Amino acid sequence: MMNNSTGPVNAGGFAFVLFGGTGDLAMRKILPALYAAHRAGMLAPDGRIVSVAQTALDGSGYMQWVDEHVKPHIPGAPTDDAAWRSFLDRIGYVSLDASQPGAFLSLRDTLGALPGQRIFYLATGPSLFVPICRALASVGLSEGARIVLEKPLGYDLASSNAINDAVGEIFTEDQIYRIDHYLGKEAVQNLFALRFGNSLFEPLWRREWIDSIQITVAEELGVEGRGNFYDQTGALRDMVQNHLLQLLSIVAMEPPQSMDADAVRGEKLRVLRALKPLQAHEIRENVVRGQYHAGAIKGTSVPAYHAEPGVKPDSTTETFVALKAEVENWRWAGVPFFLRTGKRLAGRVAEIVVNFRTVPHSALGAVALRPGSNRLTIRLQPDESIRLSALAKQPGMGMNLRGVYLDLAFDRFFKEDRMEAYQRLLLDAIAGRLALFVRRDEQEAAWRWVAPIIDAWAKPDSAVKPYACGTWGPAAASALLARHNTCWLEEQN
Ligand code: BG6
Repeated sequence: MMNNSTGPVNAGGFAFVLFGGTGDLAMRKILPALYAAHRAGMLAPDGRIVSVAQTALDGSGYMQWVDEHVKPHIPGAPTDDAAWRSFLDRIGYVSLDASQPGAFLSLRDTLGALPGQRIFYLATGPSLFVPICRALASVGLSEGARIVLEKPLGYDLASSNAINDAVGEIFTEDQIYRIDHYLGKEAVQNLFALRFGNSLFEPLWRREWIDSIQITVAEELGVEGRGNFYDQTGALRDMVQNHLLQLLSIVAMEPPQSMDADAVRGEKLRVLRALKPLQAHEIRENVVRGQYHAGAIKGTSVPAYHAEPGVKPDSTTETFVALKAEVENWRWAGVPFFLRTGKRLAGRVAEIVVNFRTVPHSALGAVALRPGSNRLTIRLQPDESIRLSALAKQPGMGMNLRGVYLDLAFDRFFKEDRMEAYQRLLLDAIAGRLALFVRRDEQEAAWRWVAPIIDAWAKPDSAVKPYACGTWGPAAASALLARHNTCWLEEQN
């Protein structure tokens, strides 16, 4: 069940073991999120964090590392020194080489003394997932434990299956927590509330009333020092296979019977399995692959992808994808879902745009027949809002229609601080709530759907289209929608 409680989780204590304890993710996301939970009184008093990494440090050396490297990533930097000190008191450090099974005995000794549920968080490269799981099992640490796997979980269907098979020999599916941090975002949670807590939208949420749906996750940032990793990954694997397809599955899913983990994940899976497989000619026509060239973001010049450190000068890795997907079921047959994501675009925005059909006949002129005049825009970030666009009569003589909207900005209603995605997901993992983690069959279905695109792009004749930084991607992305008599939201305004 998704949980609303704000009290300490896992009152019986826990040991949260963080592999990759000196890594980028630990520094930027995981330790700041644990600190936020600690400061809010949401961690059981006897919960312990044990960081594991190869770097030879003693406990106090690691504390110093945390102090120097983690503090700057805490929003509003900790001013509350007592809370920060008591957070540090929770943390221990074990230095070991995770590729050496023998080294895990020292971890077992450290954990032996700690009570409560064990959670192993693998914030390492995926090549270490299986060796770590096997080593944990060999020293008797896997039983009853939970394992949290960061993305990327594999590189394609075959490699993700290989990891899932090997991890699955040691842990049962309900011990495995696969992270997709988009599922922890407040705004994504709100999609469930919007769709399944209101009767207003449900009758319209289908092919009879919806013309097309757009899902955009646009970033202004480039590859930010991750060139090496990104160049072997690309936007399709980094964003579409996971975050965008998860958003699509929540937008398109049937109302679940309950918010129980398997009820929700089962409905998402049905959508992912209903995605129409893409044929080679559809990939050529309906999937746009772009890469950024030099340009400017908000007036500041930024370099081309090729010039980023760690990127091969002749790389064809995509930094932008736009595509048309279709869900083959009674609710959605014939409704295009346009997905788009990219780096170095004109703005940072994540939003879902539901374009309703126009009136069947307009007695009020052609304006009422213009596509997109009735639409629901659900903005997930940077600010969270819902906007319902409609037509209204302009004051004065004559019947002139103009676009107006009803606007719901969530920060006007809710003054509470928003919980960061990682904080929510870590608390869920500690408490044993699986609903916001990706089940193996969901992940497999998503890889299976993107596989033909991966294959097509691996062919030597497949080209990547350039776009200038600070734009909305290659012109082909606009042409894709124009062929369906629609356009991206920023082109509608
Ligand atoms: C990550 C990707 O999963 O999501 C990054 O690896 C991307 O490349 C990030 O920048 C975007 O997340 P958010 O929460 O900033 O939208």
